[in-house]
Amino acid sequence: MKTEKKLLVLPGDGIGPEVTAQAINLLKWVENHSNLSFKIDEDLVGGASIDQHGIPLTDTVIEKAKQADAVLFGAVGGPKWDKVGFDKRPELGIIGLRKEMGLFANLRAATVFDPLIDASTVKPDIIKGLDLMIVRESTGGVYFGSPRGIENLPDGTRKGINTEVYTSVEIERIARVAFDLARQRKNKVCSVDKSNVMESGLLWKEVVTEIQKRDYPDVELSHMLADNCAMQLVRRPLQFDIILTSNLFGDILSDLAAMLTGSLGMLPSATLGKRGDNGVIPALYEPIHGSAPDIAGQNKANPLAQILSLAMLLRYSFGEDVVAAKIIDACKQVLVNGLRTPDIMGPGKKLVGTSEMGQAVLEELNNQ
Ligand code: IPM
Ligand code: MG
Repeated sequence: MKTEKKLLVLPGDGIGPEVTAQAINLLKWVENHSNLSFKIDEDLVGGASIDQHGIPLTDTVIEKAKQADAVLFGAVGGPKWDKVGFDKRPELGIIGLRKEMGLFANLRAATVFDPLIDASTVKPDIIKGLDLMIVRESTGGVYFGSPRGIENLPDGTRKGINTEVYTSVEIERIARVAFDLARQRKNKVCSVDKSNVMESGLLWKEVVTEIQKRDYPDVELSHMLADNCAMQLVRRPLQFDIILTSNLFGDILSDLAAMLTGSLGMLPSATLGKRGDNGVIPALYEPIHGSAPDIAGQNKANPLAQILSLAMLLRYSFGEDVVAAKIIDACKQVLVNGLRTPDIMGPGKKLVGTSEMGQAVLEELNNQ
């Protein structure tokens, strides 16, 4: 008997649809190698939704996302929507879904695959074997805090305002995600804040320390200031296993960590919420690279981050560790075989497009 899972696919804008199509192409193989069958629904988000409905995230899509067993998300945004109001911009598609689905834990894995070691701008011996996870809080902080806005001042000048806010409850629940994950990895968490400047950072540090002392004494905890962390990520990234941090610092540090691996086109992510009464953990999976409008529609985008996001989906949402591992292996193997999209191209390698790369992964899986 197969278990049917409801997947909501939201390809979005730019390269989102192309890379997502390559992940979807693998689902038949997954069905043939697991007890799962998929009921796939696809809908619009971001700029694509603005074009059709005038807003980046409709109530229908929010409802579908809440009903789904998992959401596979592409990317949103692009210059085409530069002129829409700030309150309607495509990025609200993803930010709104995180908030509406309660997806507070954004897990971003930065893994250096050996065949790509020369694709990084950082020296090979600094990054060899890198496998770190950024646990980014994703429904709080300055992304959501109020007051916010742009005010006109009496003297005719203007003031832009955003507020970093974290409650102890928000800090505690993301800290627990990091500590639980640490027990499945190297038992080590580095918590990153700006407690030397910000009260919200001071509370962050206090709460994380308390939770570790009380409930996770077996997990090694260190603290680092965010600016130092950016520097250490470039200087000696192998010192990290799990980095636990706020929404904004996680956004910045995960782009930095991605480039250690050679390309933004290699980094998958999972964003998870709290298990509901129906036993389902709300979850959305997306590549972290964004919509890359400059190369959209040209069959140039690297689909591996989205394919690896599908592997995360199978693992975290459906417990299919074996098929997930096979997909990751197949991605590694196509790299070993020398196939490269433009973002990771190197001397003596074979340049391929988005669909060829996706097809090669599928062939690897079929040959296993
Ligand atoms: C990310 C992106 C988003 C963010 C944007 C598209 C709103 O940069 O997922 O890292 O800032 O969270
Ligand atoms: Mg980002």
